[in-house]
Amino acid sequence: MQSEITSRNDKLHVGIIMDGNGRWATRRGLSRVRGHEAGVETIRRIVETAPKQGIGTLTLYAFSTDNWRRPKAEVAALMTLLRFYLASEVQSLVRNGVRLTVIGRRDRLPEGIATAITRAEAATADGGALHLRIAVDYSARDAILNAAAKAAALTSLTREAFSQLVTGEAGLRDVDLIIRTSGEKRLSDFLLWEGAYAELHFTERMWPEFEASDLTEALAAFHNRERRFGGLQAILPGEVPSLSRV
Ligand code: IPE
Ligand code: IPE
Ligand code: MG
Repeated sequence: MQSEITSRNDKLHVGIIMDGNGRWATRRGLSRVRGHEAGVETIRRIVETAPKQGIGTLTLYAFSTDNWRRPKAEVAALMTLLRFYLASEVQSLVRNGVRLTVIGRRDRLPEGIATAITRAEAATADGGALHLRIAVDYSARDAILNAAAKAAALTSLTREAFSQLVTGEAGLRDVDLIIRTSGEKRLSDFLLWEGAYAELHFTERMWPEFEASDLTEALAAFHNRERRFGGLQAILPGEVPSLSRV
């Protein structure tokens, strides 16, 4: 198990704020829901290409805690899509060695979805090619707040231990690169703790039109950047410093 974590952690952790479905659809005279449907196709493309592009962990922002503010009909359509994705995708995830986990709150999801998530997680648990994390009813600030509440009962706390409380996983690699589509340049409450040193890549592309080649481009830009983590020397992806203080 430890060696699995280590080998997966040698590869990049990329987070994507999948934005622009609604605008993509509206500009084509389609309903926003059609944009979300097209967005699911993009998820399929990107999950397929990610392991071939050196990504070990992919965290996709699918539904934020603040997205409950949207009209009921749009929220319902998004939940239906999630249900559909979980039902239709598990086999292909297993075939491709993708381990799926879902982060965020589960207690407010429509009936049956939490069970479908648990099943999909169990069915894909052995996947070693890619760890796909889908953020649903997710808020990074809530994740930090909940971790802080749990930490309050402890007598000593390290960054690693707190990280585990925030992410729900031991040894999850910090996010190396956060991509946001649709031209917006904000984090909208995504991976605030794990992204402390993440490189940020913003593209005008709307999520439904985001291609494997756009991911390649984002990764090429990432590899051209010099990450120093506060020091003066460039640090390569395989050498990311531990969370411990110096
Ligand atoms: C992202 O696309 C998907 C979700 C937030 C669920 P949007 O629905 O935010 O699309 P825009 O930003 O309105 O174009
Ligand atoms: C962020 O997109 C959430 C997801 C992509 C799931 P939003 O479209 O909801 O974010 P804001 O409202 O533009 O910040
Ligand atoms: Mg948006």
